[in-house]
Amino acid sequence: MLKRNRRLRQSPSIRALVSENQLSINDLMLPLFVCEGTQVKESIDAMPGCFRMSLDLLKEEVKNIWSLGIKAVLIFVKVLDNLKDNRGTEAINPEGLMQRAVMEIKSTVPEMVVMTDVALDPYSSFGHDGIVENNNILNDSTIEILAKMALSHAHAGADFVAPSDMMDGRVLSIRTTLEEAGLHNIGIMSYGVKYASSLYGPFREALDSSPGFGDKQTYQMDFANRLEAITETTRDIDEGADIIMVKPGIVYLDILREIRDNVKVPIAVYQVSGEYAMLKAAAEKGWVDHDTVMIEQLLAFKRAGASLITTYHAKEVAKLLS
Ligand code: PBG
Repeated sequence: MLKRNRRLRQSPSIRALVSENQLSINDLMLPLFVCEGTQVKESIDAMPGCFRMSLDLLKEEVKNIWSLGIKAVLIFVKVLDNLKDNRGTEAINPEGLMQRAVMEIKSTVPEMVVMTDVALDPYSSFGHDGIVENNNILNDSTIEILAKMALSHAHAGADFVAPSDMMDGRVLSIRTTLEEAGLHNIGIMSYGVKYASSLYGPFREALDSSPGFGDKQTYQMDFANRLEAITETTRDIDEGADIIMVKPGIVYLDILREIRDNVKVPIAVYQVSGEYAMLKAAAEKGWVDHDTVMIEQLLAFKRAGASLITTYHAKEVAKLLS
C-alpha cells in the first residue's frame, strides 16, 4: 500500500495538526428570552437549562455570559397578552420590553454584541409574523412596521437587527430607514433562509407565540426547496443584509453549504429550539452522550460553512472549550 489514510489519525496530536475545522467561543451567539417582572426566572418545559428572565436577572446573566467568553446575544421577548394587537403596536414602543432589555444589556456589558429579533409574532394577537387581514398575512404594510421596529431597537442600542419574519422587501425597508436616520453602522443579520419547520415548537411555547390560525407556510420557506434558498439569500444581500442566517440547523446542512458556496458574506446558522430539545431528551434518557453529540453537531455547522452559530448550548460549549 502506498496510501494509508490512518497515518494521519494515529494520535491526538497528529489529528489536531491536520484538523480542518475548529469550534471556538468566538463563533457562538446565545439566544435569550426576556419577560416582565422582577426576580423572575421561569424554566421552559421543552428547553431544560433555558429560562425566561426579568431584566434585573438578565443583567447578572449577561455579566456571566460575558465572563464565559460569549460575545453576542440574540434577544427575544415575551410580550404581555394585553399588549398584543394585530399591528404589533407594542413592538415600536421606545419603552417596550425589547428596547429596555437592549439598554440594560448595553449599560451592563457595552462590549457585548446585541442582536434583536425583528418580527411581529410575539406582539401579534394572531401569533403571526405580519399583519393579518381576512386570514392573509399582509406583506407591504408589515414591512413598514418592521422598519420602525428595527429603528427603535437601533435607538435603544442594538448593534444588529435580525429580521426573522420572511416578508419580502423587509431588508431594503429596514436598511433604508436606518440609513435615513444616519445609523450607518447598525448591521442587519437577515434570516434569509428560514424554513417553515416544525422544530420551532419549544420556542413558540417559551414566548407563547404560536400562530392562532393556520401555519407560516405562506411566508417561511418550503423545506422541499434548495434553489429558493439561493434566491432568498442573494436578494437579501442586494437589499443590504450584512449577515445571512440559515435556520434550522442540523437538518439543513446541505443548504448551509450551498449558501456558503454561492455568496461571500458571513453565514450564521440557528440551531433551533426543537434541535436543542431533541438532544436534551435523548441525553436525559441515557440514549446518547450529551456533550459529545453537542460538539459533533456544532462542528458540523462549521464544516458546512457557518461563521456564526446561534445555539442554546452556547454556555455549555463555552465551559467545555475553556
Ligand atoms: C420569530 C422567530 C421564531 C424563531 C426565531 N424567531 C419562531 C417562528 O418563526 O415561528 C424560532 C427559534 C427557535 O425555534 O429556536 N419569527
